[in-house]
Amino acid sequence: MSGSVVTQPAASASIVPRHLAVIMDGNGRWAQRRHRPRSIGHRAGARAVNVCVDYCLDHGIEALTLFAFSSENWQRPADEVGALMQLFMRALDREVDDLGRRGVRLRFIGERGAFAEALRQRMDRAEALTLGNTRLQLNIAANYGGRWDITQASRRLAEDVAAGRITADSIDEAALASRLSLAELPAPDLFIRTGGDQRISNFLLWQLAYCELWFTDTLWPDLSRETLDGAMADFASRERRFGKTSEQVSDKTIVGASA
Ligand code: IPE
Ligand code: IPE
Ligand code: MG
Repeated sequence: MSGSVVTQPAASASIVPRHLAVIMDGNGRWAQRRHRPRSIGHRAGARAVNVCVDYCLDHGIEALTLFAFSSENWQRPADEVGALMQLFMRALDREVDDLGRRGVRLRFIGERGAFAEALRQRMDRAEALTLGNTRLQLNIAANYGGRWDITQASRRLAEDVAAGRITADSIDEAALASRLSLAELPAPDLFIRTGGDQRISNFLLWQLAYCELWFTDTLWPDLSRETLDGAMADFASRERRFGKTSEQVSDKTIVGASA
């Protein structure tokens, strides 16, 4: 067989993240470069969400968590916040039925109480309508903050202790993790931030503990499949050690250890 043409894809090409977490950043700068208001950038950013969702569906990625609005984003000018709320409403009205038909389950994470009743109703409807879908779980982080998430999980632990359901002694990492957003999913294994900044900005703090981080200068509205291919290829080339040594996690060691 020596000299035969290798037709199978490289082994690394089959290593696909199970859960992709994305900070969709750069909408404002995209608009400013075109001398347009920032809201136009957000509108263009909404279109890029479809690029990302389609990519996940095509590549068998099980879960996608998108950071749409942080708990700190309320501090932006009122007209920008208002435009974003309008955009969320319109996007939900326009996209949810189609997402549902394509097997996407939608969920929202974050403090929902701060949103207007009309928006909360749309969120509830989207979740109820897509409840039975299993092809891709799409989580939208809206009025979300990683610190908020850990705080609300801690509060729930305290309530359980106060009510006598658990003892303080029994609180361990698993107990806290089970009360965080996305507890039912595998932790994100690949994080992407567009827009050139290299920070977490209060996204999933606990859940990203061992996530592979990938940054690109591409502005979110310019997202393309090629950009995502680049992230996937980089992810596939990384060695995830989870605190162990390279020898421990490599296949070689497994063969050696069993010999
Ligand atoms: C991300 O784009 C969208 C939200 C935070 C809602 P930005 O609006 O932060 O865009 P830049 O970072 O100012 O370019
Ligand atoms: C993070 O982007 C939040 C979202 C993309 C929704 P920001 O633009 O708010 O982050 P900072 O302010 O640059 O850290
Ligand atoms: Mg930004």
